[in-house]
Amino acid sequence: MKNRVTEILGIDLPLILGPMRLITLGEVAAAFSNSGGFGQIAASGLSTDRLRSELKKAKELTTKPFGVNIPIYRPNAYDALEIAVETGLKAVTTCAGDPAKLIGRIKEAGLKVFHKAATVKMAKKAEAAGVDGIIATGFEAGGHVGREWVTNFCLIPQLSDALKIPIVSAGGVADARGLLAAFALGAEGVEIGTVILSTRECQVPDFFKQLILDAGSDSTILLGKKAMPMRVLRNKAAESIGGPDKSKEDRKLDSQGDKKYVAEEGVDADNAIMPCGQISGLIREIKSVKELLPEMMEKAQILSSQLRDVFQDKNDSGR
Ligand SMILES: Cc1cc2nc3c(=O)[nH]c(=O)nc-3n(C[C@H](O)[C@H](O)[C@H](O)COP(=O)(O)O)c2cc1C
Repeated sequence: MKNRVTEILGIDLPLILGPMRLITLGEVAAAFSNSGGFGQIAASGLSTDRLRSELKKAKELTTKPFGVNIPIYRPNAYDALEIAVETGLKAVTTCAGDPAKLIGRIKEAGLKVFHKAATVKMAKKAEAAGVDGIIATGFEAGGHVGREWVTNFCLIPQLSDALKIPIVSAGGVADARGLLAAFALGAEGVEIGTVILSTRECQVPDFFKQLILDAGSDSTILLGKKAMPMRVLRNKAAESIGGPDKSKEDRKLDSQGDKKYVAEEGVDADNAIMPCGQISGLIREIKSVKELLPEMMEKAQILSSQLRDVFQDKNDSGR
């Protein structure tokens, strides 16, 4: 497929790997890129040395384009950007902060950048700062979501009307139906996180994958304070913290209190905080990244022609 997103990122399929802290490292990023999408390494939680070594690993495993996701508010954001430039990446994504802080260096180095936004206001500000595209984070997504709780069903068409730059939809997509729906709303790409957690290539504990396979439509809750809510799987650890939908108590910025993140040592199904999207309720099978990506694209093509038939005016048939 060719559109603005695939052209800007130099990829075959309009699919972006959702960066996931301490989870999307070199190997899975390379597997995603080798399958035709845009793999990403999450810089969050990595030292500069570790980021360098994960980028090196990805470079050894793929010749296709991949990127790094840089949370702007973190003190090592500038270092992460320099490492991306050093590594010869062609594009990065940014989140959690004002992209104007990094845009000068990004453009000077000739990189493209997509910035994550959760409202039209944030997206317009990023567009004015000069980013090349927006990754729209909907309220249904796994991990940190916007504080205004806007779902992508509403956000994507509003962004589509408000922006000139292309939009990637992040949140709620695990199969061809979601992909096609995102495009119908005005997106030119999708970023997938939760479904990737369930894939063979993704190195998360087996209990996490099993919980995703067992999840229902109501298996996630919000943690953290209103300013930085995070969607996670409901378990003992998450229930013990609560969140903006449960209590007005002030919460820690990282949303997980003193609990362990699922990618840390010594975690189990009860004590781990597991960021995860509402679409987990749809995932019933463990697949590999290399079968999932082409399958999403092929089924979306079939579905789009079926939809064309559904919307065909019956009175027109045979004329
Ligand atoms: C375990 C986990 C960790 C995440 N960590 C990050 C992160 O470090 N940076 C970021 O921009 N987004 C992060 N996200 C959000 C994903 O990149 C992606 O946008 C999101 O998962 C898409 O929605 P979905 O979960 O419905 O597929 C995380 C999501 C999950 C599930």
